[in-house]
Amino acid sequence: MSRYALITGASSGIGLALAEALARRGRNLILVARQRDALESIACELTQRFSVEVLFRACDLSQPLRLSGLLHELEESALHIDLLVNNAGIGTAGAYVTQDWACERQLIELNVLALARLCHAIGTVMAGQGSGQILNVASVAGFQPGPGMSNYYASKAYVLHFSEGLREELKAYGVGVSVLCPGPTRSGFFRRANMDVNALQGSKLMMNAEEVALITVRALAKNRAIIIPGWRNRLLAFCPRLAPRWLVRRISARLNRHFGKPV
Ligand SMILES: NC(=O)c1ccc[n+]([C@@H]2O[C@H](COP(=O)([O-])OP(=O)(O)OC[C@H]3O[C@@H](n4cnc5c(N)ncnc54)[C@H](OP(=O)(O)O)[C@@H]3O)[C@@H](O)[C@H]2O)c1
Repeated sequence: MSRYALITGASSGIGLALAEALARRGRNLILVARQRDALESIACELTQRFSVEVLFRACDLSQPLRLSGLLHELEESALHIDLLVNNAGIGTAGAYVTQDWACERQLIELNVLALARLCHAIGTVMAGQGSGQILNVASVAGFQPGPGMSNYYASKAYVLHFSEGLREELKAYGVGVSVLCPGPTRSGFFRRANMDVNALQGSKLMMNAEEVALITVRALAKNRAIIIPGWRNRLLAFCPRLAPRWLVRRISARLNRHFGKPV
């Protein structure tokens, strides 16, 4: 029976780069995102370049009913998913109470609830089979509070802590859980979040999605718990542990102060 890696948010950025890196290693894929046309052409291209089977499903994961439909379809098709990559995520920037509630709610539905639900549904099957791997995409933002992007940072703290807990729980079932915590990465993320990233443009922190994906697939092969691409990002994740929380909050607020301004 063919095995598949299911990747959410595979139509652009880190998800697309992960899809390519996994296809290069001979993995069959199921790509999920909202943009059907983009998924279709990516599936075609990856199939031709790497001779792997690439399926795709267009689904708005922030809509619980659509997600139910996707899960039902996956169950019916009995496709064997041995790697789940929960990558789809969005950001919002600016003081929380000045933001549109619908956007903040969508962030929680996608970054937190959809990820938790996919881990539950597919993780249950993997645990029953006694094998499989889950990769959840958090961020270096998950290591500290983020005034100016409070909801986003908190959603990534959830992903980080949830994944670490799940890793220990699922060890006994033969299922590996890793969490990817990228730093700033070139992708459509900032534009979608309506963020001004001029401050980051020349920054040495900024990485390419392809670099992030390469580091990630290598670390996945070693079943690493927390994957932080780049030594600068590892430092960024470690520093908040050394300072008092009041200081971490203020530094984070200062670093985020530009992002709330629309581009
Ligand atoms: N870029 C960074 O600096 C950075 C840093 C740390 C962590 N991350 C995390 O990395 C992950 C990927 O982000 P990225 O940087 O690659 O951004 P991106 O280029 O904007 O990609 C986001 C992906 O998620 C999909 N998506 C968005 N809303 C969706 C929805 N409602 N349902 C299904 N799919 C949806 C998008 O596809 P459709 O529009 O087709 O749905 C797209 O494929 C996110 O979890 C993000 O938080 C990014």
